[in-house]
Amino acid sequence: MPETPRAAAKPVVALTLALAACAALIAGTWWLTRDRIAADTRAAHIAALADVLPAALYDNDPLADRIEVRDPALGGADAMPVYRARLHGQPAALVVEAIAPNGYNGPIRLRIGIARDGTLTGVRVLEHRETPGLGGQIDADKSDWIARFAGKSLRDPPPARWKVRKDGGDFDQFSGATVTPRAVVEAVRKVLAWYAANREALFVSQPS
Ligand SMILES: Cc1cc2nc3c(=O)[nH]c(=O)nc-3n(C[C@H](O)[C@H](O)[C@H](O)COP(=O)(O)O)c2cc1C
Repeated sequence: MPETPRAAAKPVVALTLALAACAALIAGTWWLTRDRIAADTRAAHIAALADVLPAALYDNDPLADRIEVRDPALGGADAMPVYRARLHGQPAALVVEAIAPNGYNGPIRLRIGIARDGTLTGVRVLEHRETPGLGGQIDADKSDWIARFAGKSLRDPPPARWKVRKDGGDFDQFSGATVTPRAVVEAVRKVLAWYAANREALFVSQPS
């Protein structure tokens, strides 16, 4: 016997209802978790900043007080994020992302924290393709080399000594791997010189 139009429509209606239920479930889950996801994302960003900038140094929201800066001294053609940290409304420090272009296997992305007086509060490697066991020791979880930048500035050591020891400077190279640390030391020195030349302007421009 031929199917009535009503019977033929049943599976279509059932499928439509099932799809609508799925869509409602997805929308509801997003609605219920959106604040939590935003808070988690923010906490992850703050934690990443904390590696190079002690939380005790500021009381503002550096993530909101962000500008973008395009300057060859930061190592690339792209605009780089700069997060400003302030204490009681006064400039306290900033965190800038920069690139060391001359790594052994390509560019090395860095995050650099600088206190208002030009002293480094920390340096971390965000991304690199250096060889594990050689240049790869720039990672904070592989050696303490990168952590040793904290506390240094262009006054200590002076600019002429911002080189690896093999080149007559104050920074250790790794055994059998000089190219990578040379690139990082050079990049950090350039960022400190950029900061010294632009310090006042960096804290006054409007957040982007
Ligand atoms: C397969 C291979 C991978 C290497 N990876 C690195 C590296 O990631 N970083 C580095 O500084 N040197 C690396 N080196 C060693 C460099 O070629 C170089 O010999 C070393 O950095 C010393 O540099 P210098 O002559 O300027 O002192 C690697 C060498 C080889 C053969």
